[in-house]
Amino acid sequence: MTDFNGTPWSRKDYARRYVEAADIIVPQRRVFLHLLVSFYRRFLGGKAGRRILDLGCGDGFMTEGILRADPDASATLVDASPEMIDRAKERLKDFGNTRFVRSTLEELAEKGIAPGGFDLAFSALAIHHLEPSKKLDLFACIHSHLAPGGFFINMDDCIPPSDSLEDWYVDLWREEMTEKEEESGRKIDRERFIRRHMEGEHHSRLETIGALLKKLEEAGYREVECYYKYGMFAMYGGRR
Ligand SMILES: C[S@@+](CC[C@H](N)C(=O)[O-])C[C@H]1O[C@@H](n2cnc3c(N)ncnc32)[C@H](O)[C@@H]1O
Repeated sequence: MTDFNGTPWSRKDYARRYVEAADIIVPQRRVFLHLLVSFYRRFLGGKAGRRILDLGCGDGFMTEGILRADPDASATLVDASPEMIDRAKERLKDFGNTRFVRSTLEELAEKGIAPGGFDLAFSALAIHHLEPSKKLDLFACIHSHLAPGGFFINMDDCIPPSDSLEDWYVDLWREEMTEKEEESGRKIDRERFIRRHMEGEHHSRLETIGALLKKLEEAGYREVECYYKYGMFAMYGGRR
């Protein structure tokens, strides 16, 4: 837990601020959920007893979408934050088929998680917090925990290959957050989230979509693809 304890995510107030403002901070969040559920229905629907794994689950928002689409599936949710695990338990209390694991993704990459055999592993806005070399370890670990033919999907931040593109993406992000503020009638401290995104250690861990897709291939995935990208937010994955 050492690495995680030094990050703002270990703080209860930070987790709470994220949950309250997530739909504004991540303007594409509902598009991601829509695509995730659509992907699930198309490629995994129609068979009972599917098993899913949500990495860096936060308050369980993404898993809830899948379980609503397929109440017969069972879900394992992993997060290092006790606050987030408690919130996810509360959100998913009406679904009996859930398991919660408090662990960092780095620990999970080292030790694995039993039993494996997941039909779909996914993550939203969490893996970019890992150092680049640890991402490869995690991608490989997830691959080994998928059922044959199972999928891994990551919905996450990435960086473009030039500063001028990054300036554009940050401006796009700011505009989208402003629109979401207007839609919701709520204000957030946009510039604070932008500063956090750009700040040294956080920014140094971000990678281009090209580098991330290569990492998936290196970790053994096939059918590697970027399914969607809008500015700095991308949804990509592969298959065991
Ligand atoms: C931006 S939130 C996203 C939460 C959720 N996936 C969603 O889409 O709403 C990032 C989540 O990753 C978790 N997290 C960050 N670094 C982590 C790490 N190294 N290991 C495990 N969880 C981590 C945080 O506690 C937080 O719940």
